[in-house]
Amino acid sequence: EVLVLPTAADVARRAAEVVIEGLGAARRDEPVLGLATGSSPLGLYAELAAAVRAGRLDLTRARGFALDEYVGLPVGHPQSYREVLLREVCGPLGLDPGRLDVPDGSGRDEDELVAGAADYERRIAAAGGVDVQILGIGANGHLGFNEPGSALSSRTRVKRLSDRTRHDNARFFTGPEGVPTHCVTQGLGTVLAARRLVLVASGPAKADAVAAALEGPLSASCPASVLQWHADATAVLDEAAAARL
Ligand code: GLP
Repeated sequence: EVLVLPTAADVARRAAEVVIEGLGAARRDEPVLGLATGSSPLGLYAELAAAVRAGRLDLTRARGFALDEYVGLPVGHPQSYREVLLREVCGPLGLDPGRLDVPDGSGRDEDELVAGAADYERRIAAAGGVDVQILGIGANGHLGFNEPGSALSSRTRVKRLSDRTRHDNARFFTGPEGVPTHCVTQGLGTVLAARRLVLVASGPAKADAVAAALEGPLSASCPASVLQWHADATAVLDEAAAARL
């Protein structure tokens, strides 16, 4: 389903309703929310926080699984996705930090990182899978850190970040050179296993990626095109992000 709304604020409000409805429909004692980082979902998180304050949403028993993490950032680095999610999600939404799970980017070598990635898949499975996965989209069509060329059935693994993504994310670091070169990301197959997907995108910089994802061929050259394959995926867009549809 594709919902086009006038502004980014409308996108945040509507996407929050889709998320709340999906968590309710899961009917689980400990629902599992899949968490994206980046700027796109921040408005959605603020709306979910408002719903928690209003008593319309209770995440005290929920679990959260992050999509991805950088490799090699020191523990507690403010731009590590664990820290971002503790700040933006756990506090404001009342999600227990002990129930937040993030891929482990601290492995000292490839073997440790690979073992950590496999363990992450096991932890998602042990939690009963993701009920609602929140997603943003990269300007190159990436999902999580699944860059163009990612296998459509991939699982959590170590990836090298593209120059484009390191450049796009340089604003969070001291320039492009400060952005880690590698990450651990859920695979496209991992994302597809979630019961509901909710993609949020706003602004003209996302218009080409959104058009390729929603109306282009299902192809590894646009990782977000896997949304077309999912039985319960909703894209919530503002008019600028939807301009090329
Ligand atoms: C980052 C994240 C993605 C996110 C994307 C878009 O690299 N790993 O999960 O969707 O970039 O970021 P933004 O929402 O800031 O445009």
